[in-house]
Amino acid sequence: MKYIYYSLERVLYLSRLVINGLKRLKGEAAVQGSKNSALPILAATLLSGDESILHNCPNLSDVSGSVNILRYLGCEVEFCNGTLICSSRGLNRNHIPNSLMREMRSSIIFLGALLARTGSASMCFPGGCEIGPRPIDLHLKALSELGVEIHDDHGVFRCNVPNGLFGAKIALSFPSVGATENVMICASMAEGTTVITNAAREPEICDLADYLNSCGANISGAGEGTIVIEGVKTLRGVSHTIIPDRIVAATLLAGCASTGGRIRLNRLIPSHLGAVLSIFEESGCEVSVQGSSIVFDSPHRLSAPKIVRTMPYPGFPTDAQAPIMAMTAKSKGTTLFVENIFENRYLHVGGLLQMGANIKVEGKVAVSQGVDCLHGAEVEAMDLRGAAALIVAGLGAEGKTTLDGVKYLDRGYENIEAVLTSLGGDVKRI
Ligand code: EPZ
Repeated sequence: MKYIYYSLERVLYLSRLVINGLKRLKGEAAVQGSKNSALPILAATLLSGDESILHNCPNLSDVSGSVNILRYLGCEVEFCNGTLICSSRGLNRNHIPNSLMREMRSSIIFLGALLARTGSASMCFPGGCEIGPRPIDLHLKALSELGVEIHDDHGVFRCNVPNGLFGAKIALSFPSVGATENVMICASMAEGTTVITNAAREPEICDLADYLNSCGANISGAGEGTIVIEGVKTLRGVSHTIIPDRIVAATLLAGCASTGGRIRLNRLIPSHLGAVLSIFEESGCEVSVQGSSIVFDSPHRLSAPKIVRTMPYPGFPTDAQAPIMAMTAKSKGTTLFVENIFENRYLHVGGLLQMGANIKVEGKVAVSQGVDCLHGAEVEAMDLRGAAALIVAGLGAEGKTTLDGVKYLDRGYENIEAVLTSLGGDVKRI
């Protein structure tokens, strides 16, 4: 019951952040575990009917959402100090209620795992979310090619596998991260070979493949466009360390650059940040990679990067678009943003304009004309990465910024006010 209370408490608890800007960030911080790696791996713990131990698991409301679903399904979950222990031995349900589906957009990732473990599953269509409709057509088409029958029963879809799951050739029309993950999880215990072409190549896909292969799966090619999965009969529980969160790392670097600061970030994988680091360097920042750390030095005033075009990995990540836009708001010059992944991912522009930014949005394009300075304002977050953007802007703004909508932030950033305070920022949750 603790987790249900925990997540409800965060939703109901109308906290806000207060940021006093223009404090140069300095010092060093460690990067949290990846939300977008933890969520599919948590779903995959259903496969083994055994106990898995996940280290470096971030303490986020989206993780609590997954824990609530696992517990509802009959799993035993303990989570303390970044280590999550999940035993799916007691799985006794295969239906996820609307209330738990609504709590978290990406709960569709449980579908493949439930089908592989129990042969049937039902859940409601996950609602759209702030950044646009979140269709699941690619998930359903791919799973049906593995032998899943899907019946839409007035918004609840009921799935079963009358002839079992069997390997197939699956060509994704778009390298969807979630669809790739759902297929990997479901096909890992299908009869025969599955080949996914045009697969997503994000580092979180590789981390999921590493977890599944440790459990005894036989997956090759993760991180490339074609993934081959040889189905196996059973999987076992394992201990796995979740990769660092590349988007949180990008957000902290953008916050530093917004203050002309100099920080060292530890416990990250620099190669996961390739496209983002080149934008920072184009902005005049000095990036020194030292093993699993980055020493980052930013100029007093940034030069505007010419164009930021979001693309599937290894292109520039859509999740970093908002924090980077906030950072460029005060730069010298103009930046063209092209958001190719989601339909409505400029919700943070309103708050940035309130703080004095000069940004024009036209469809999937936004033009950010750097201004000399930003000023604090009372702003409201409308989505997870938009909340992060408003913090980045607040750190670089004169005076006080008050941020409402912190519940969005808690979905993906673990205690960000403490991390920023440890780097010399003046950020308080009230
Ligand atoms: C994952 O979402 C991430 N979430 C997102 O991070 C991230 O922005 C996204 O991948 C792209 O990198 C998690 O991993 C939990 P997609 P996902 O399927 O899997 C369309 C964050 O801020 N699409 O790659 O939902 C879809 O509408 C979150 O941490 C279909 O049309 O992303 C979108 O336009 C936000 N049909 C595009 O593809 C489908 O069946 C990319 O979606 C599936 C997706």
